Amino acid sequence: MALRKILTQEEPTLHKVCRSVTKFDDKLAELLDDMVETLYDSNGVGLAAPQVGILRRVVVIDTGDEVLELVNPEILETHGEQDGMEGCLSIPGEYWMVKRPERVRAQAQDREGNWYEIEAEGLIARCVCHELDHLDGHLYTEIAYRKVTDEELAALSDVEDDE
Ligand code: NI
Repeated sequence: MALRKILTQEEPTLHKVCRSVTKFDDKLAELLDDMVETLYDSNGVGLAAPQVGILRRVVVIDTGDEVLELVNPEILETHGEQDGMEGCLSIPGEYWMVKRPERVRAQAQDREGNWYEIEAEGLIARCVCHELDHLDGHLYTEIAYRKVTDEELAALSDVEDDE
């Protein structure tokens, strides 16, 4: 396993549409392993392959419960709405407010190519939407409606320090 370099928003790779994965081979397994390692190393909750320079439809998510590996993912259904703060490893140091569905049902393949479905809500649903947007070359700031201010961030970190 190896850490991969995370590209930042000025890189053209982040604005392109990714191709589907067709080979479920060792190279895909290595990519997934590296993406998970890179995600943990950067303290993120989700990472999409284009963020490490690979234009393939591959996403990893870990919000603290378990690692999800999504290959060729598609959202099947969404419900409700949530409004909250979001960040992106490709846009370091910034947080913006984004509205997302509260729940999503999605399908994806695992590293062996088996299709499965997930139902996600809250933070995981937000991550699924954010990471899948990356696969189509979209960054969350395109749909964000307001930047979170330094004062708001400072207030949040005060709260966290108290816990
Ligand atoms: Ni992102």
